[in-house]
This record gives sequence, C-alpha cells and structure tokens, in this order.
Amino acid sequence: MIRVTPHDGLLGATVTGVDLSQPLSDGDFATIFRALGERGVLRFPQQMIDAPELKQFSERFGSLQVVKGSPYHEPGMPEVSILSNVKDGDRQIGLPDAGQEWHTDMTYNTLVGFVNVLVAHRVPVRDGVTLGATEFASTQAAYAELPVDLIQRLEGATATHDLNFYWEHMRRDKGSTRPPLTAEQRKARPPVQHPVFLTHPITGKRVIYVNPGFTERIDGVSPSESDDLLAQLFEHVLQPRFRYTHRWTLGDLLIWDHLGTWHYAVPDYRPDEPRLMKRCQVLADKVFDARFRQRTLEMA
Ligand code: OGA
Ligand code: MN
Repeated sequence: MIRVTPHDGLLGATVTGVDLSQPLSDGDFATIFRALGERGVLRFPQQMIDAPELKQFSERFGSLQVVKGSPYHEPGMPEVSILSNVKDGDRQIGLPDAGQEWHTDMTYNTLVGFVNVLVAHRVPVRDGVTLGATEFASTQAAYAELPVDLIQRLEGATATHDLNFYWEHMRRDKGSTRPPLTAEQRKARPPVQHPVFLTHPITGKRVIYVNPGFTERIDGVSPSESDDLLAQLFEHVLQPRFRYTHRWTLGDLLIWDHLGTWHYAVPDYRPDEPRLMKRCQVLADKVFDARFRQRTLEMA
C-alpha cells in the first residue's frame, strides 16, 4: 500500500509501498502526482532502477527532454542523461558539474520543465559523511509570504530566461570547464519570456517563476530596477524556512517539481569521490498548453 510521509517543514516527503520498476496503477500515480505538487520533492528509498524503467516511470508525467548533441547519456537512450564526475579512462561519462547554482531546469525553453527524476547509482561518502547533497527551495511556499507590494508590482510582468546566461556564469564565476555553447546550440535555445508568477497546475496556488540560474531580467523595467527586483525575490525565496536539503542514500530515487521549487547541487566532493546519477527531465506538456493555461488532467 502506497504511503506518503511528509518531512518536517514545508518541503519534501518520503514515499514507500511502491515498486517503481513496475508499471504504476492509476491510483498510485494520482497519489504521487498530488504529493509532488504539495510537497515539491519526493524521495523513494531503495529504488535503484536502471535506464529503461527510469524512462518508463518518468514518461507518466509528460514528454522527456532530449538535449541534441549531448554526449552524456545512457547508450542508445538520449532521454536518460548521466550526471557524474566518474571517468572512463580520460573520458567523462556524465556532465560533471550539473546544477551547481540555484536554478530550476528548463525555464529557458518555450515549453518549460515540469519534473526531474534522478536515481542515485553512486554517492560520495568521506569519513562516514555523505557529500553531494541537493538543496531545494519552495517558490510556492515563498509566494504565499511575498510582501503584497512586490506581488502588486510584478503581477502580469514577464521575465527573460536564457540558457547562455547561465552557461557563461558557470564558466566565468564557478570555474566550470564546459566549452561555450556553439552558435548552433544558441540558435536552438534563444532567450524566452515567461510570466514572473504562475498558477501551479497541481495545487492551483501561485508560484514565483524566476530563478537565479536562468532568469536574466524582468522585462519592461530599467536594468537597475530589474536587478533590484530579482535580488529581492531571490533573497526572499532563499530564506531557511522555505528550504530543504536532501542527503542522498544509494538507491534513492528523487522526483521534484520544477514549477514550484528551485534546486542546487552542493559541490563539496572531489573528482576522486564518485557521484553518479541517472536522470530524466520531464517537460510540462501534460499540464500546460503553450501559454501556461492548465490542461485538463485526466491523469490525476
Ligand atoms: C538536475 C540537477 C542536481 C544534482 O538534475 O537538474 O541540477 O544534485 N542536479 O545532481
Ligand atoms: Mn537542475
């Protein structure tokens, strides 16, 4: 019998009583879907499934993103990416520094991200202490406590999101050795505009939909005003009461909601301390139409 146990605080729950290597019943899926909206991050312990099952489970939530030209994926399965510092000889087998800044995935797409699904195949441990945690912040809980003047000021506003903005920040400020995006990659992902606030398709609550990683500016105001507004929003969301840290255990499968949370991969382990995650990135095509209007969910 499926069981959802909320963690302390506003974010996170542990889900037991399901076997994710098997197709899920509609009832169990609906329970998971609702819990995802309400708790933002769900941990399924002892579910070390491999790529085919990971893909099958992830596809219940929507279409999967495939990054054209990325070498970091499961052989023959471009929907399953590998995040890892592990090397095969001289060759990196995965993206070694994914997510090492506060962000939410795929806001730089026209069709934005909905859910990430990660399963921990290797977790760095030093002197008995687990490293390489993933931190989360709830933009849904944060909206509920946003000062009214900020809400009034930004209601109806849009912001510009750009993959290249993040990419260059990682190269310039975080010591990333990733090569610049090619002209072709930049052309495939031009800057896009999205509303600053969205209505969450599962809970019906408002969320703050800008993030430090990909949001370059608030549209229609001066650069200094935009910087100031973004700084206020970011500082508000990152307050401790909206946050949750997930420390990985081998075989944890974690799913999180990209519409109502941000995340940050803590880079506190060395290149010789192996970390390996397999991941599917689910797009929001089952929950939104092209203008963020909610679709009727026959799935939940
Ligand atoms: C991601 C990401 C975080 C991590 O999967 O989008 O940012 O801790 N990863 O690996
Ligand atoms: Mn990410």
